Amino acid sequence: MYPGLEGVEVKESEICFIDLENSKIWYRGYDLEELAQYSTYEETVYLLLYGRLPTVGELGEFSKKLAAHRRLPSHVYDLVTNAPKSGEPIDVLRTAVSAMALGEDLSDKSPEAELSRGVKILASMPLAVAVFHRARDGQSAITPEGAESHAEYYLWALRGERPTARETRAMDVMFIIYAEHSMNNSAFTAVTVSSTLADMYAAITAAIASLKGPLHGGANVDAARMLEEINRIGNVEKWVDSQLAAGRRIPGFGHRIYKRGPDPRLRVLKSLAGDLAAERGDYKWLEIAQRLEEYVGSKLSQKGIYPNTDLYAAVIFKYLQLPVDMNLPTFAIARAAGWVAHVVEYRRANRLIRPTERYRGPARLRYVPLSQRETPTASVG
Ligand code: ACO
Repeated sequence: MYPGLEGVEVKESEICFIDLENSKIWYRGYDLEELAQYSTYEETVYLLLYGRLPTVGELGEFSKKLAAHRRLPSHVYDLVTNAPKSGEPIDVLRTAVSAMALGEDLSDKSPEAELSRGVKILASMPLAVAVFHRARDGQSAITPEGAESHAEYYLWALRGERPTARETRAMDVMFIIYAEHSMNNSAFTAVTVSSTLADMYAAITAAIASLKGPLHGGANVDAARMLEEINRIGNVEKWVDSQLAAGRRIPGFGHRIYKRGPDPRLRVLKSLAGDLAAERGDYKWLEIAQRLEEYVGSKLSQKGIYPNTDLYAAVIFKYLQLPVDMNLPTFAIARAAGWVAHVVEYRRANRLIRPTERYRGPARLRYVPLSQRETPTASVG
């Protein structure tokens, strides 16, 4: 038995290698830290989806394709615009992706057909999120003409004004860092759904549902709320002590696979958070995160608990002035690349995913007619 499927290898993959010994992550053989430094999200998505870095011409074509797909079918646009304002943006995004399937011919189940659906979904997710966000604020939707990247398009569509080059680059780096991370819960969910030969819309809808949970992507919202609750560096110890005393987990800490040292992505995230804090002359969120890291570390590192990406992602998104509940759909927008890559890879040699379990329940009970049943001592809910 493998509780939580810890350590179970479910498929072979050429997409992402996490080298725990050397604290490195590789996307298709390329060092993630180099990609974060020199690449763009578009180039990284191309790499993840097509298996190699693009030429200038290929990247241009791919960027044009993404731009052309940055639109929503009218029924999805209406759904997102009219969604209850109190809805969580991640739920609206999940519903929007599901609704995108309506009216499309889904009969072609080839990996190529799923890949082109995946590109369409990935391209249109920022608009779905931005349209909802602006509608709930009573603002009309913006479809930025002339946005030069996915990151710029997203921030622009969300805010209604063009972000600075620095903000765009920071979001681009976040997209690259969040784009893929091997067989995590949401990638496994996407592959599991797709293994039944359900379509890419179904797989991505399910992956977004998985990402939402606070043990997975939802932690980047909880971590931002934690920073806000703490609010002053002097409150860190008291806040952490009260959480632990109440038996609660500290969001942004702990990881299923990083139990012998911190997540390698933190090197990039900490440096980006430091740059943004310095540019803004506002160190508050960074310093709270650093104090949290020291203090939670002093309490929990002996259990193999270190900060994860969501702690510093929350700091970076604070500096980018993202509304807190947008942290999670922002993660989903970036991670769509990894989900699509895994679904397409698995579809190429598909086998239905159908594990088993060990039965521990009662055996050989005899059916008692309803009229003869006695009231059990503990009644059922
Ligand atoms: N705060 C306090 N204690 C923790 C935390 C935490 N964040 N994480 C784990 N622990 C403790 C557990 O209570 C447990 O203690 P025990 O042995 O005394 O019972 C021990 O560490 C081991 O925990 P497990 O649940 O076995 O660890 P697992 O590998 O299953 O969980 C997980 C990993 C779910 C990420 C966990 O660390 C957690 O809940 N973290 C907080 C939520 C979070 O930040 N999630 C984002 C993960 S990254 C991502 O998905 C994008």
